[in-house]
Amino acid sequence: MELLNKLNWRYAAKAMNGEKVAEDKIERILEAARLAPTSSGLQPFEIIVIKNQDIKEKIKPVAWNQSVITDCSHLLVFAAWDTYTEERINNMFDLTNDIRGFKNEGWENYRQMLLNSYPQKDAEENFNHTSKQAYIAFANAITAAAFEGVDATPIEGFDPASVDEILGLREKGLRSAVLLPLGYRKENEDWLVNLVKVRKPMEDLVTVID
Ligand SMILES: Cc1cc2nc3c(=O)[nH]c(=O)nc-3n(C[C@H](O)[C@H](O)[C@H](O)COP(=O)(O)O)c2cc1C
Repeated sequence: MELLNKLNWRYAAKAMNGEKVAEDKIERILEAARLAPTSSGLQPFEIIVIKNQDIKEKIKPVAWNQSVITDCSHLLVFAAWDTYTEERINNMFDLTNDIRGFKNEGWENYRQMLLNSYPQKDAEENFNHTSKQAYIAFANAITAAAFEGVDATPIEGFDPASVDEILGLREKGLRSAVLLPLGYRKENEDWLVNLVKVRKPMEDLVTVID
């Protein structure tokens, strides 16, 4: 299957060559992230696309000095809402009504149910939930990048508070969740490129209940 070939081709590149990724590819990767499903359709995150080399240089030291941060073409920062607010929930429900062109009682009841629960929760608990949603878009972006023949290195190895500070995310009610440099592998400097992909056997992953 074509998709599985692409997923076998992809790996978490440890070295990139600085080559730029065409904007149309980046747009399709971002569109795949935008199309990701999220809990209640709230899409509680934003994606910051960093092309600016100076900003990448600032992030590198707070991301374990990983070279792909500066040698990538575009650095995506998945930044999740710091919490759920009434306004944020209402915005998404209003957008749905606007786009679909009608109001539905069941949907409005559901809105009230969320309004009566999410905003009252502890911000940390909410961030835990919003960042999980960001990871779904992140995974879509990784798959879309592979589909486009673009390398992507998923990165959790960074100090989120420092990245938030560099990008001014907290002022916008956002917190960095995970990073995704996009670019092209530098094969001669990447120890991982020729190693066999390791995954646990299917029987250790999947339990079928007939
Ligand atoms: C959420 C997440 C965070 C990761 N963080 C890092 C990272 O900071 N640096 C890195 O080199 N690889 C990172 N990886 C890559 C994983 O180590 C890699 O995906 C895994 O070993 C499987 O190998 P493969 O992606 O090459 O198939 C991360 C992967 C994920 C999914």
